[in-house]
This record gives sequence, structure tokens and C-alpha cells, in this order.
Amino acid sequence: MNISLTTGKSISVAKGESILNALKRHEIYLVSSCGGKGTCGKCRVRILDGKYKTTVTGKLSQSDRDKGIVLACQTFPEQDIAIEILEGSKLVVGDKIALAKSKDLSELFKSLDGEIALVVKRLELELPPPTIEDHISDLERLKRELDIRGIKGMRFSHGFLSSMSDAMRNYDWKINLAYVDGPEAIFVSAGKDIARCGLAVDIGTTTIVIYIIDLSDGKLIDVGSTYNSQIRYGDDVITRIIYATESNGLNELREAVVEDINSLIETVLEKHHIQRECIESAVIAGNTTMSHIFWGLDPKHIREEPYIPTANFFPMWRAGTAKLYINNQAPVYTLPCVASYVGGDIVSGMLASKMHRNPEIALFMDIGTNGEIAVGNKEWLITAACSAGPCFEGSGIKHGMRATEGAIEAIKIDPKTFEPSLSVIGNTTPTGICGSGMIDAISEMFLTGVVDQKGKFVREIKTDRLREGDEGFEYVFYKGNKDIVLTEVDIENIMRAKAAVYAGISLLIKEVGFGLESIERIYIAGGFGNYLNVDKAIILGMIPDLPKEKFRFLGNASITGTYLCLLSEKLRKEAEEIAKKMTYMELSVSRNFMDEYMSALFLPHTNIGLFPSVEKLLK
Ligand code: FES
Repeated sequence: MNISLTTGKSISVAKGESILNALKRHEIYLVSSCGGKGTCGKCRVRILDGKYKTTVTGKLSQSDRDKGIVLACQTFPEQDIAIEILEGSKLVVGDKIALAKSKDLSELFKSLDGEIALVVKRLELELPPPTIEDHISDLERLKRELDIRGIKGMRFSHGFLSSMSDAMRNYDWKINLAYVDGPEAIFVSAGKDIARCGLAVDIGTTTIVIYIIDLSDGKLIDVGSTYNSQIRYGDDVITRIIYATESNGLNELREAVVEDINSLIETVLEKHHIQRECIESAVIAGNTTMSHIFWGLDPKHIREEPYIPTANFFPMWRAGTAKLYINNQAPVYTLPCVASYVGGDIVSGMLASKMHRNPEIALFMDIGTNGEIAVGNKEWLITAACSAGPCFEGSGIKHGMRATEGAIEAIKIDPKTFEPSLSVIGNTTPTGICGSGMIDAISEMFLTGVVDQKGKFVREIKTDRLREGDEGFEYVFYKGNKDIVLTEVDIENIMRAKAAVYAGISLLIKEVGFGLESIERIYIAGGFGNYLNVDKAIILGMIPDLPKEKFRFLGNASITGTYLCLLSEKLRKEAEEIAKKMTYMELSVSRNFMDEYMSALFLPHTNIGLFPSVEKLLK
């Protein structure tokens, strides 16, 4: 059987196979936030012709169904069919995405008194070429030279030996030996004027960022960023872990992320005329699931109680093992993780924030695809993951989307007319609403009386912006070809996410015997690291009501931390200290967490006294 597409393309579909899967097999990817379970309603296609079987879900309205719209993951062709992939359903990955605010990295490096101490050491050697008289083997020749220089006990891997002899001859026996602590020889390059570069990677569940660094002086040569193509298999780590357990799932996920990284590397190297062999070391940071998948380690135990990962501290494997497009022998350092749901990206970000060095009590939050928080100072650190879910990235929200062109990112509502004014990324026609837009929307609706303290629409208000839709009441932000709305169910999901974040913060700080007022500094990193409106997030009740001057935005702190680790042995050690020192708290089994969470399921909170600035505004 075949599926014909409006583009003229035709693809095969097996009996009993869903349209979503058939498309995926042919490398046509739809937005499938729930991983194909029929619960996100994002994989919409219209059937133009042919017989099929479909499961009816509440995710489609009657009018959608009348138009022949179905969910691709729940629809199974029974003969040749023709379909149209709807606007907004096609997944666009590999787009260039806006990069987090780029800091002055070398200033930061200096402020951490980091001295450049690279993983790879170099030794310039001039070997006497072999002759009939001096006929010892190439390896013995190298060892003899090392002996003369007093270097003992060097180890030589099979990988090293297989390329050593050719390299020695190519460079006319004037070589540069690269080795790592052990000592272990890793590769041979030309004797003089070698370019030495490094790669830093932040593997986010949603986005990937790379830095290519000149290791001689720590200068940033260039950056690259893209969406993580694993999004094809689901938005959050749980759907990815489930996919990894399917037949070839782990491999597919691994290949997807490595291909993303490699294509970024290739673009940057080509632009700057850098040979891949010159990238002599790499550092990666990701959450625990991303780090496991990157190394091809099965993440399945991460989601099974008692939630134990295969490794938190990873050995320094080689780039060839990871299939990275850099020098095959380059050592790859992985930022250590703390637990199944607090990974190396958080450790990396905390290193960049310097909170582990200061006496003041600081809160570090990374609200991206999930929500991780840490509280502490130079004496102690405590951390938790608060299962906020990926709704601020658009998942599970009817018209939710990531912060890309077309996303409503800021909203004001007129308190008299209830008419909204929108600011849209790229100043174009809105196609959805992103995380910061959602926070704005709910806090504005709350302040203007469109929703009550429970996040329910106040039915009595007089405006045609409020209407009853297929999923209950909804507020229409934009009227057009495709109306953009926020439903009561959406608001409920966002409130759950914000309650989880607030409850997590509140519980962590209580756990160490302090109150929220003792937090002297708040670092915001990750997806919201650049554009979270603090006032609105306080009105929503997502973050504590603390003075604005306490907040610091770090942008993508995880990639900053990988940069630091690439350059400095001392800072790699510090990252390991952070990971070891952090006490992990499992919130899902804490009764107190449930109490805190329930109290936070209001706008801004059941105890308005905790939010004095909001109380004042309401008055
Ligand atoms: S509803 Fe089809 S992928 Fe989520």
C-alpha cells in the first residue's frame, strides 16, 4: 500500500502501520510530542482519499473530523490513500535557533582563576629515520626517544598504533605526540605549527549548542546550534527512554543526536578551514538521559524505581566511540551527573554560576524541557528535579510551541475591554504561544479578572474573547485563519508545572532549615535564561516573590560550563566536586512535596501572604 502526499511524493505503508510511522520510516517527521500515544494531538493530517481505520480521540474537534482531519499516530491505512500534512504538524528540525546570550567567556574564565590546563598534552619529537643499520620497529623507535627524554611507562592503544607509522613518515619523522594522563599516547600530528582546537557541546532535550574553541588562548572560534532531532521520537526524556527500549530505538536516538552535532561541527570547520583532526578534545554536558543516549547506554533504569542510571561519572572515552566528527582519538569528557533526573547540564551550569564558591545562599533554576533546581552555597548544595514537564516548550498545550518565529511571546490584556495586545517573535502572523507567552497570558488574565485564583475562566465577564470550544472554555488571543487560544485545560497544565517548580524550591529550602527570604541570589538558566519576565512569573506563582535585583539571567549556562571544563583541569575537578557534594532529593516520594504542590496550585498561591507584591497589585 502507498500513501501519496500533496507534494507528489508517494511512500509505502505496511498493513497495520500508522501513518506517523510510515512517514517516519521515509524521513518525513511530524510533531509528535507524546511519542505517538495519541495524547498530544499534534500529528494532524487530512485524509484526501482512500480507506483507513482511526481511533477517535478528544484531541480533534467535530469540525476537524468533518474535514477529514485525523491523528497520524492513530490512523492506519487499509488501502492506498492520499493525505495532506497540515500546517504546523510538520516538524522542522535542524533550523538555526537563536543562541543564548553570549557572555564574555574569557572574562569568566579569568574570574574563576582558571589556568589553561588541557586534557591532551603535547610533545615535539624528532626521530632518526630508520636505516638498514638502525632497523628497530617504529614503536621501538618512539619508545627509545621517550626513554631519552625520561618519559616512562607510556601506553599505546591499538587505535594509536594503526595510524602511527604512516603519520611518522608523512611528517618526515618530525612529529608531535599527543598523549593523555596515564600516560597514554593518542595520536601523532605534524611537528610544528599545529592548530589545537576543542569542542564543547550542550546536549539539551530540545536544543543542541556547540562551541569550537582555540585551545591555545581559549578564544571562541564559532558557535552552532540546532534542535535535537530526537524530538521526532517525543518531547520529553520519558518518551525518549520508552522509545530507546524499542527494537532499534536506542541506536536511532543516538544516531539522531550525533548526526545533529556532527553537522554543526562540519559547518563550523568548513567555514573556518579547520581540519577535523585539529579538534583534539571535547567536553559534553547533558541531562542524565541525554548523556546515556549519547554514549549508547540504555537509559531504561532511569525511569524505573528506584531510578538508578548506569553511570553518573563517565570514563573519558574517545571521539571514535561516540562517532563524533573530530579527531577519532580525541578524549571526550562528560560532565558528571548527580542522579537520574539531575544531570551534567545542571552541574555545568552551576560551575558557570560560581554559586558553589560563594558564601551567600543561592537558588539555581533551569526550567527547560524539565525543571531542575538547586539551592546552596560553598558549604552545602541540595538539588531536585521537579517534573514540571515540557509544557513551557509548548508540549501538552493546544497551541503551544517553542520560542521560534510566529510564537506569541508577550501579552498585555486591557482590563476594561479584555482585548489582548500581542508581541510575536519575528513580528509575523502568530502560529502559537511559547513558554514566556503562556506565563504572560495567565498572569495578565489573572490580574484583569479573566481567570480566578484557581485558573478557571470567570464566565460572567463580557467579551467575545472568551468562548466555549471543543475542549471547554477558551480565551482567543488571535483571530485569523487559525485562531490561537489558551484553553482551561492548558491553564491547568501550566498551573501544574508552575506548582511543581514552586513546591520544589520551597521544599528544598525548608529541607535545609531556611525560609525563602534567606535566598540571596537567584540564577535562572536554560530555556528561560534570557527572556523570562520575572514580575509575571511571580504573579503566576512560579518563582518566589523576591526583589528583582536578586535575579541573574545566565542564558545557556550549561554550554558555558563545558567551555570552562574544556580549558581547565582545575575546573573539571570542581565540577566533579559539585556533583559529589550535591545532596539529591527525590521529590516524587516526599509527602511534604505533595502538600507544597497542592498549596501552589493557585494563583499565585493559596497563601497570598507569600506573594506580598502580588497582593499589593491586586489591591
Ligand atoms: S497525538 Fe499523535 S503523536 Fe501525539
